[in-house]
Parts: sequence; structure tokens; C-alpha cells
Amino acid sequence: MARHFLEIDDLTPDELTAVLDLAEAPDLALSLHRRGVALLFEKPSARTRNSMEVATVELGGHPVYVRPEEVGLDTRESVEDVTRTLMGYHAVIAARVFEHAKLERMASVSTVPVVNLLSDDAHPIQVLADLLTIRQELGRLDGVTVAYIGDANNVARSLAIALAMSGGTLRVAHPDGYSFNEAAFAKLDAAGVAVEMGADPHAAAKGADVVYTDAWYSMGQEAEMEQRRRDFAGFGVDASVMAEASPDAIFLHCLPAHRGDEASDDVLDGPQSRIWPQAHNRLHSSRGLLAFLTGVAW
Ligand code: CP
Ligand code: NVA
Repeated sequence: MARHFLEIDDLTPDELTAVLDLAEAPDLALSLHRRGVALLFEKPSARTRNSMEVATVELGGHPVYVRPEEVGLDTRESVEDVTRTLMGYHAVIAARVFEHAKLERMASVSTVPVVNLLSDDAHPIQVLADLLTIRQELGRLDGVTVAYIGDANNVARSLAIALAMSGGTLRVAHPDGYSFNEAAFAKLDAAGVAVEMGADPHAAAKGADVVYTDAWYSMGQEAEMEQRRRDFAGFGVDASVMAEASPDAIFLHCLPAHRGDEASDDVLDGPQSRIWPQAHNRLHSSRGLLAFLTGVAW
């Protein structure tokens, strides 16, 4: 049975630590030597595509970028039949999709690992890099408090689960109407993850070790942009929010940033910001994940 990675708790807590350790390991075995990795994107990407391509090459493999219109998921051919085709050529099938259910359908037929590169519900490969960055910057994950200011979206859900698995806590401050959706609350409940929810960014940031934010409008929500910008007014991370956090706190953002909306330039570019190590860690954490999924670690 192939191991899939659709949400961060598809790993056990020990396996999560093992992936972070692999991310930092020098000279990994070339577990993808002369093997393919399919990278299918229904949405745009800068970090995810590039880091996955290079991570694949670093493990000796060959990445193949697949545009949705060429395979036509559920239009030219069913999701299941596309998966059955790709798994004959590739050691891993990785996909960025709108509907999370498409990944579940891929995983249900695939004999090779299916990796979530972001869905409307979850972004687990991002939070691997987030945990790696926090561990490197603060020297620990256990007991870490992360204040997440903004939309309780796919990134927030995966981050909440990842932190709970590592002994940390997520506090969310969101405007009215932008809490986790029902499916996310059901997932968090099922995973036994407690999240502190609130509506005051300053209160959420108080004493936090990490302040984190993401876009107010995710990919696919562009039509709601103006409404959301109005609704999220007052939820931008600025110097006054950072001043509430621990003096040693770091600022993270999964990127892309909408400068002046969810975070001000002085925070994004300021001394507490670690957004570039975080972005660059996408390569190392993805290499660690691929090594874990294609090696003999389990
Ligand atoms: N953070 C992230 O997933 O970035 P991309 O959308 O550029 O891949
Ligand atoms: N929540 C954002 C994350 C982008 C990396 C989105 O889904 O577009």
C-alpha cells in the first residue's frame, strides 16, 4: 500500500519529526534515481512547483509538470483514469487542486504516493516548511504558540493540526464570517486539535512566539477580493500587532503576500520577518518528504 500525504496527519508525530530531520540531512540516498514525479497544477504556483521540481532532481528523479487542460481531469478522462495512467510512469503523483476530494479519488486508486500540493481544504506541504523554519529559528516546536491573523483557510487548518502534533498551539483571530468552515471544524475535532478562536488580532498576538498570516482571498476567491478587503479591514499584521508578541517572536507568511493588505511592508521586510528562509525551506522540506515517501524509512 502506498503512503499518501493529503493532510499533515497522514504522518504520525514521529514521522513528522523524521521528515523534518530528513529535510536537514546532508547526502540523502537518491531514492528517485531515474524515476519520474508528476506535478499536476490546477492553480498557479511559484514556490510549490519550483521547490518540488528541484527537490525531485536533488533525489535523482525527473519532474514532469502537467497542466490541467492537457489531462482534462473529469473532462477528457476521469480523475481515476488519469491517476492510473500517471502511476505507471511516476514514483509520486503530486497535485494542486481546487476540490480536496479529487486528491482522495487519486489516492483511492493509486499504487504510488499521492501528495497534496494545496487544495481548497489543506496545504500540508507548506506547513512542513513552516515547522522546519520555526524549529530552526526558535530551536523547538514543543510549547510554541503561533498567532494566525486572518482567514481561517486551508493553510490555517493544516497549521493547526501540525502544531498540535508537535506540542504547539494555534490561536486564530479572524473577522466575523471567516472562521473555519464546517468541514474544517469536523476535521480538527476528529484529529483532537483544539484551536483558540477569537476576533482580536492584538489579543491573539499577545506573547506569541510566531505571528503568521496568509492572503485574505485565496486562489479561486478573486471575485470576492473587494468584499473581503472590506471585511478584513483591521486584521492586517502591522508593527502594533507585532509589538504584542514575544520580543523574540518571528513573523511568517506562506506567500504570495498582498503587501499592505494582510501584512504591512515594514513587517514583511522587518527584522522579525523570516518569510524568505520559510519560502526557501519549501525545497528542503519537500526533499525530506519525497525521501520519506520513496525511501525505505517506514
Ligand atoms: N506558498 C505557496 O504554496 O506558494 P505558491 O502558491 O507560489 O506555490
Ligand atoms: N490560502 C492560499 C495559500 C496560497 C499558497 C490559497 O489557497 O490561495
